[in-house]
Amino acid sequence: MHSTMTLWIVFAVAGLTGLNGVSGTPAETVTLDDVNTSAHPNSALETLEGEENFWKPTVVVVVVEAEEEVMETGELNPSHYPAQRAAKVVQHYINTQHGSPYKVFGLQRVFRANAEDVSDSGRKYHLELSVQEMVHNTTLACTAEVLFPGGEKTEHWPQVQVSSCDELLKIDTSAQEEALYQKYNMNHSLSTQNLPDSNGHIEPDHEPFWHLGTVASSFVMFRESTQNTLYNMAQVDNATQLATEKDQLKFDYHVLLHDLVSQEIIPWKLLVTWSPLEGVKVQKMEKSSNCRHCNKSQP
Ligand SMILES: *[C@@H]1O[C@H](CO)[C@@H](O)[C@H](O)[C@H]1NC(C)=O
Ligand SMILES: *[C@@H]1O[C@H](CO)[C@@H](O)[C@H](O)[C@H]1NC(C)=O
Ligand SMILES: *[C@@H]1O[C@H](CO)[C@@H](O)[C@H](O)[C@H]1NC(C)=O
Ligand SMILES: *[C@@H]1O[C@H](CO)[C@@H](O)[C@H](O)[C@H]1NC(C)=O
Ligand SMILES: *[C@@H]1O[C@H](CO)[C@@H](O)[C@H](O)[C@H]1NC(C)=O
Repeated sequence: MHSTMTLWIVFAVAGLTGLNGVSGTPAETVTLDDVNTSAHPNSALETLEGEENFWKPTVVVVVVEAEEEVMETGELNPSHYPAQRAAKVVQHYINTQHGSPYKVFGLQRVFRANAEDVSDSGRKYHLELSVQEMVHNTTLACTAEVLFPGGEKTEHWPQVQVSSCDELLKIDTSAQEEALYQKYNMNHSLSTQNLPDSNGHIEPDHEPFWHLGTVASSFVMFRESTQNTLYNMAQVDNATQLATEKDQLKFDYHVLLHDLVSQEIIPWKLLVTWSPLEGVKVQKMEKSSNCRHCNKSQP
């Protein structure tokens, strides 16, 4: 049956996440390379030059099986696509639970992955993986379970349980968060666009808002994820601060998300609140049709 399969090779840059490699489904040809991104100036996402190593995008080669979607069960190759897609959901989930303007989590590696069909409730993945907190470059191993609801429940997002990541979640950023909160609570002055800009640059003052936008985007990516998606944050198109309400700083974000599988850049409009006490919340999320950057043939 393998001889009937059509393989599409998709090159893409997985930015910001430390994602080391992704490859094919099902147990088919695997091409897994870290490629020097400077040799690929036209890659979909920007390189953050002059930033710490962990921001450096990695080019991954994704082998997409086009004709049939046979879902493997049992032990999976950790660097293959199904395992990576499930692990990516864990990254987004951890961001929704623990992310902040000074804490952003990225998937680093998948060590083990196992998938099972769970009667009619869907497919469950058991994962051993490492997650990196990118602001502090701290890595810790976690175990996680991801259940993708099956059948008629496709409108539901995945269910995730994470264990043994506790150390990572203890990273204390309260002093920085408090200072940021005080500064922008006093003066509702944030207005920025293109994080990062076309040179991969982010003003130091705006870095926390790039992180906040990334964390907020994980709320969307978590809810939108299925077994057939692999979402990364591409760019904050713009962010504008609104009036503080109930002690929560409030922002309008326009973000661009990238699905590595479909190669789509998808714009979303988010209403985001944050305070050190309440954490990051996304009050509204709306897929946007208005996107200056999505169509390269337009200015
Ligand atoms: C990446 O490629 C560029 C241009 O081809 C080259 O100048 C640079 O030395 C390479 N970097 C590494 C780490 O191989
Ligand atoms: C992040 O940590 C790893 C492992 O401790 C280290 O090899 C790497 O150089 C660090 N990167 C940065 C940017 O500090
Ligand atoms: C308030 O924001 C404005 C506009 O960004 C800036 O010019 C001013 O210096 C800020 N004031 C304080 C006290 O931070
Ligand atoms: C932010 O970007 C969106 C989409 O490109 C655009 O419609 C909106 O006007 C922009 N907002 C600001 C304040 O620049
Ligand atoms: C992109 O722009 C071209 C030329 O204006 C148009 O033909 C095409 O339909 C646009 N694509 C999308 C996705 O908007």
